[in-house]
Amino acid sequence: MLGLFRKKPREVARFAVRFQPGNTVLELKQGDNLLEASLQQGVAAPYNCRVGACKTCQIRVVEGQPKSLIEREYVFSQEEIAAGAYLACQTSVQSDMVVAWHAGAIEETAIQNARLVEVRRLTARIHRVQLRLDAPLSWRAGQFARLVPAGMPVDPRCYSMVASGENEQLISFDITHYPDGAVSSWMTDTANLGREVLVEAPFGEFGLQPGAAKEQPAPLLCIAGGSGLGAIGGIIAGHARSMDRSTPAAPVLLVVGARDRGEMYGLDELRRVADSANVPLQIDVVLDREPGDSGWQGRRGYVAEHLPQILRQAAEGDPRFSQPDEAWRVLLCGPTPLVDTAIDALKGVGLRAGQMAFDKYEQQRAA
Ligand SMILES: Cc1cc2nc3c(=O)[nH]c(=O)nc-3n(C[C@H](O)[C@H](O)[C@H](O)COP(=O)(O)OP(=O)(O)OC[C@H]3O[C@@H](n4cnc5c(N)ncnc54)[C@H](O)[C@@H]3O)c2cc1C
Ligand code: FES
Repeated sequence: MLGLFRKKPREVARFAVRFQPGNTVLELKQGDNLLEASLQQGVAAPYNCRVGACKTCQIRVVEGQPKSLIEREYVFSQEEIAAGAYLACQTSVQSDMVVAWHAGAIEETAIQNARLVEVRRLTARIHRVQLRLDAPLSWRAGQFARLVPAGMPVDPRCYSMVASGENEQLISFDITHYPDGAVSSWMTDTANLGREVLVEAPFGEFGLQPGAAKEQPAPLLCIAGGSGLGAIGGIIAGHARSMDRSTPAAPVLLVVGARDRGEMYGLDELRRVADSANVPLQIDVVLDREPGDSGWQGRRGYVAEHLPQILRQAAEGDPRFSQPDEAWRVLLCGPTPLVDTAIDALKGVGLRAGQMAFDKYEQQRAA
């Protein structure tokens, strides 16, 4: 009798996914992550970060209707979207599909050896870590490298470069130390100075394309949390250094989210760089764990809840920030909750996904 009421296990739909070139066909379940399921079934899919940051896993959906786990406007142009561009690591299988790997999916990256040459404590948790590469390399602030200490049996972790490099051998990262984190605790430990690290770089397109801010002096909203301040600071400093003073510079509104005052770093230096290049820079800091009796007079709570007011006050206080919503370009970098909630808040005041680019410092899934 009870059996009559027992729920039947729900049938999960299965779909045929054909990969081009090669015409390999896999049977995948509804809701499978396309990249993860393909890798599990032995497809040699191109990938790196697995979190939507590097575009290495770009595909073109020739037939079928998958679900994208991120709004594709963040990473692709309207033309690319119309042509069926998706990221395999951000794609959920929902139908039969024909999928082509993007021709330029594998970026021009190099793998090489490096040595840990400097570990400088910036805050209680964040360290500036410098490596000396065996051979010179070029990269932009905001792009990232995959690092793993030589001989450590773990997947490489992604870290963002804090300053651009042109044919350089010294490369720096701001790394948050997690006491039980395999790579971050190794990289921030001075006992490892002189030891070898494997580096693959550069990945990703986060940051400002060279010359972009000169061509289009639209206001730039930068939002940084935790060690994301390193890459964002490097991008702003690069923007300031690229200005020639004869043209009006794009004004920058920087919003920093940190636990407490002890976690803010590099802001005075950033102000100096911006001043010397005549780049208008306004900085707003929001602290979420600053002790109530510390005397901090500034904003408290989370960045997202302050964003509408920060934008309104910036526009009221300086006409250069008083631009229509669609004029802004937005860069967000740091812990995933900060980036996600800030994006929601910005959409709430009328900004669109296509104006925003982000780098989420997400923990990578194990292979
Ligand atoms: C594109 C990209 C760029 C990144 N850039 C940077 C960067 O510039 N600086 C930087 O510090 N990190 C950055 N990260 C995060 C970094 O790649 C690692 O995930 C992080 O350093 C943890 O690695 P781990 O080996 O130390 O920890 P794991 O051994 O992977 O994890 C062990 C434990 O550490 C803790 N932990 C690890 N990661 C997190 C997290 N993100 N949030 C909360 N707890 C965590 C957890 O307790 C976890 O159980 C980036 C990530 C991506 C995807
Ligand atoms: S692996 Fe998909 S974007 Fe990096």
